[in-house]
Amino acid sequence: MNVLGIETSCDETSAAVVGTGRILSNVVSSQIELHRPYGGVVPELASRRHLELIDAVIQTALQEAGVSLDEIDAVAATYGPGLASSLLIGLNTAKGTALAAGLPFIGINHLEAHLYSPLLEYGANQLPLDDSQLPPDRQSLLPMVALIVSGGHTILAHVTGLGQHVILGQTVDDAAGEAFDKVAKLLQLGYPGGPEVDRLAQSGNPRAIAFPRSMLDDPGYNFSFSGLKTAVLYYLKKHPVNGNPQPFVEGKPPVERDPNTSRTVRPEPHPPTSNDICASFQEAVVDVLVGKILRAAEEYRVSTLSLAGGVSMNSRLRAKLTAECSRRGLRLLLASPQLCTDNAGMIAALAHHKLCAGLRSPFSLEVAPSAGLGVAA
Ligand code: KG4
Ligand code: ZN
Repeated sequence: MNVLGIETSCDETSAAVVGTGRILSNVVSSQIELHRPYGGVVPELASRRHLELIDAVIQTALQEAGVSLDEIDAVAATYGPGLASSLLIGLNTAKGTALAAGLPFIGINHLEAHLYSPLLEYGANQLPLDDSQLPPDRQSLLPMVALIVSGGHTILAHVTGLGQHVILGQTVDDAAGEAFDKVAKLLQLGYPGGPEVDRLAQSGNPRAIAFPRSMLDDPGYNFSFSGLKTAVLYYLKKHPVNGNPQPFVEGKPPVERDPNTSRTVRPEPHPPTSNDICASFQEAVVDVLVGKILRAAEEYRVSTLSLAGGVSMNSRLRAKLTAECSRRGLRLLLASPQLCTDNAGMIAALAHHKLCAGLRSPFSLEVAPSAGLGVAA
């Protein structure tokens, strides 16, 4: 059974073919270069580019999978959440293709696809409908506590089976990725900001500035990142990087040579550089995310955790959670980079399982730009 999946919820035009048990192709055409000059996604430009690219991306996905449209059994697309004008392109293309070919159509919630994406790596690309359908060595992956951290969402969920998930908490203001992108803007780094902050932080001091760990000790599992972003803003106003209000240039801590030994030394104290600010900000985000997911694992007595969404690419988040999980004997599911960011592979894979479970969507399904994860149908 082959499913063609389409994803156009934001600035990635993507199509994928998933066969039984396997992702056969997963083509992603990123619009990062198109939006870079504007420092963020411009919806009109995004939808126009989706329209220009979608047919070619689908053709490439079919070619790479080595299947023709005749060998496709269903067509799926993201219906939300995302940018309305972008979602429309993928959803209408999927409906049109399915109608013309007389195939079933399946609408997929983008967040639900992110939620299950780490399981794709651990079940020979098969999402388990329940534990008994997993190969014996992979049984009891579920239940798990899953964290989706992307540009638009930060959601912690308890997952007991496919389509069986309950939201434990989510952000009450900015998403984690949004905070990364906004802090990158304050520091005049490139777009998208998350990877840049991650890169600079690698040579910064995470203890240089004590930024707030908002809601870390609050009961419950909600998050808040807007105060942290504001704390960075005030910090920059009060302590211009390297003594200059502008520009906040990339820089490692200054080094000097000891005139007696010729060895390099770091003058102490040195004013925090943008690398230190990135590292300190990132550490605050990671502390909160790691603290909450570990607490949820304990409270819900699960031994599997998973990370999904663009921010799950963050090197510090991965490293810290990996270390904490191995200390506690917990299993951590991490999606590979191509499945972390927006891609149609995760859409087609979830649709494949819905198809096998006999689920179909009506052709009247409309885009839902602000759809939540909710409890899956
Ligand atoms: O899941 P995604 O591709 O799109 C959404 O559905 O939002 O996530 C994009 C977000 C952006 O905010 C981007 O800055 C962030 O993921 N991101 C990162 C890293 N790579 C991507 N944030 C922190 N560290 C990274 N290495
Ligand atoms: Zn996404």
